[in-house]
Parts: sequence; structure tokens; C-alpha cells
Amino acid sequence: MMINSLMNKYLGLIAFCIVFFSCKHEGDKYHGVMEKIQVEGNHYEGTSISSENYLEGLETIEISEGGQTFLIPERKSHIKSFACTECHSKPLAEMQEADIKKAHWDIKIVHANENTMNCVTCHNPSNMDELHSLTGKSIDFNNSYNLCSQCHSKQFEDWKGGAHGKRIGGWAPPRASMTCVNCHNPHQPHFESRWPARFNTQKVKERE
Ligand code: HEC
Ligand code: HEC
Ligand code: HEC
Ligand code: HEC
Repeated sequence: MMINSLMNKYLGLIAFCIVFFSCKHEGDKYHGVMEKIQVEGNHYEGTSISSENYLEGLETIEISEGGQTFLIPERKSHIKSFACTECHSKPLAEMQEADIKKAHWDIKIVHANENTMNCVTCHNPSNMDELHSLTGKSIDFNNSYNLCSQCHSKQFEDWKGGAHGKRIGGWAPPRASMTCVNCHNPHQPHFESRWPARFNTQKVKERE
């Protein structure tokens, strides 16, 4: 009996608390900001806002990396000497046996030093139409970011999230972003530091 009446008292108190505290935000439709985003977000499903118009004429491919799905420009049609196998019809070693002139004399590696990197670190000598990873897995020229990501994981992580690189089109979906080789020449990827395009000469005068 004692226990029962004690329980009843507690239950009454708990019920009181629930009623009293849960309706703190009177007039507010939602219990917290997350609920508001969720409910009102549904409302925007099927929005007519899209950056698709700005991507017209740009051939893109869809990629999924670490939970992020977005578009990047297609590359192969932009590579002058593709398909490589038009000339590279046999393994590289055999091609180089013949006493021929250097074919790609205009390409110099100014990237990692020669202990770390040579042409076939990135290009597959038994199938030039492909790139390959350090462990020998083939990488399509359209997905060359997978090549870079092996050694530049920090920039790759930033790029996936949209913090390194550049978005194409607008901020509305679908997301399209430039890929590494749109900006970096893989053979000479470094950028020299530059002054901002709008250099404030007035400030310099003031400092003199
Ligand atoms: C017009 C013909 C031609 C095309 C197209 C061509 N190559 Fe070559 N490539 C050659 C020849 C010939 C050699 C062998 C002579 C030499 O080593 O420069 C060669 C050599 C190479 C080498 C070895 C260079 C070295 O210094 O060890 C690489 C790497 C290479 N090619 C990559 C490519 C890639 C990648 C493509 C396509 C994007 C391509 N080539 C397209 C003709 C071609
Ligand atoms: C760090 C990796 C890397 C190294 C090292 C490298 N390449 Fe490349 N190369 C690439 C990638 C990636 C592309 C495709 C770039 C693009 O999408 O425009 C490419 C493109 C090319 C092309 C096609 C360029 C064109 O516009 O036709 C040739 C030819 C080529 N490489 C030859 C070579 C040769 C020869 C060497 C060695 C002297 C070499 N590469 C070293 C990654 C590399
Ligand atoms: C096998 C490893 C390896 C691969 C693959 C590779 N890099 Fe590099 N990269 C290096 C190293 C090592 C350096 C020189 C050290 C440094 O500056 O971080 C470098 C330097 C650079 C730099 C200059 C860094 C600076 O401080 O300015 C850029 C940009 C760059 N790489 C971009 C790329 C891109 C883009 C790709 C893919 C096409 C790529 N790298 C593929 C190893 C690699
Ligand atoms: C929209 C153009 C653009 C794209 C796309 C891009 N980068 Fe860069 N990246 C730059 C510029 C510009 C710098 C020089 C930044 C500076 O000097 O402050 C840079 C710097 C770098 C550096 C030098 C270190 C640093 O952070 O300053 C590395 C390494 C690099 N990028 C790798 C990559 C890789 C890997 C990818 C693809 C996953 C990529 N970048 C995509 C423009 C780009």
C-alpha cells in the first residue's frame, strides 16, 4: 500500500513535468530546429531551382566518393593524343627497343623527384589508354583524381567535401565540380604564388 501510493505520487509528478515542460514553446510548431529543417525541407522536394542550365554543353560523368555523389567534367575527349593505343599498340619496352626519336619530348616531369616518380608511376606501360595505381590497379583517365588521391589525401578529402577546387554551374543541385587535372597539369602541378588580381595600390602607397 505504502509503495503504491508513493509510486502514484511520483507518476503524478512525472506526468506534470511532461505536460508542463514539453509545451514550453507555445505558438511554435516544432520542437527544435532539427525537426523544423526536416519538416520544412520536405516542402522543398521537387524544387524548380537547378544548376543544370549552366552545365549545358559540358559533358560530365557522375562519381560517388566517400558518401558524396557529384558530377565532374569528362576528360578523354580533351586529351590531344588520346587514344594512346593508336601508337602504343605494343608494350612500351618493345616500342622503345626500336631506334626511334623521343615521342613526347615536350613532356617533362616537374612534380615529385625521379626516385618517387617516372612516367610509368602513373601511366600503364602495357595499356597506355589507362592510368594505374601504385599497386597496379587500373584507373580510367576520367577518374584521374584517384591517381592523385594516393599521395595527396588531404587535398582529396577537401575536394570531396567541396573545400578544394571549384564548383561549376550554381549552388543549386546537381553539384558539379572541376576535377584535379582541370586545374593542375599532372606533369607540372605546382602553381606559383601570385598577387591578387585586384592589387590594392593605394594601400602600398600608404605603407611607404
Ligand atoms: C603519335 C604516336 C603516339 C601517341 C598518340 C602516343 N604516344 Fe606515347 N610514345 C610514342 C612512342 C613512339 C614512344 C617511344 C619513344 C619514347 O620513349 O619517346 C612513346 C613513349 C611513351 C612513354 C614513355 C616515355 C619515356 O620517356 O619513357 C609514355 C609514358 C607514353 N608514351 C605515354 C603516352 C600516353 C599516356 C599517350 C596517350 C595520352 C601516348 N603516349 C600517345 C608514340 C605515341
Ligand atoms: C603524376 C602522374 C603522371 C606522371 C608521372 C606522368 N603523367 Fe602523363 N598524364 C597523367 C594524367 C593524369 C594525364 C591526363 C591529364 C588530363 O586529363 O588532361 C596525363 C596525360 C599524358 C599525355 C597526354 C597529353 C595530351 O594532352 O595529349 C601524355 C602524352 C603523357 N601523359 C605522357 C607522359 C610521359 C611521357 C610521362 C613521363 C615523362 C608522363 N606522362 C608522366 C599523369 C602522369
Ligand atoms: C606517387 C605519389 C604522387 C602522385 C600519384 C601524385 N603526386 Fe603530386 N606530388 C607528390 C610529391 C612527392 C610532391 C612534391 C612534394 C610536395 O610538394 O608535396 C608532389 C607535388 C604536387 C603539387 C605541388 C605542391 C605544392 O606545394 O605546390 C601538386 C599541386 C600536386 N602534386 C598535384 C598532384 C595531382 C593533381 C596529381 C594527380 C594527377 C598528383 N599530384 C599525383 C606525389 C604525388
Ligand atoms: C579549381 C582548380 C583546382 C582544382 C579542381 C584542384 N586544385 Fe589543387 N590547387 C589549386 C590552386 C590554385 C592551388 C594553389 C593554392 C595556393 O598556392 O594557395 C592548389 C594547391 C594544391 C596542392 C598544393 C598544396 C596546397 O594545398 O596548397 C596540392 C597538393 C593540390 N592542389 C592537389 C589537388 C588535388 C589532388 C586535386 C583533386 C582532388 C586538386 N588539387 C584540385 C587549384 C585546384
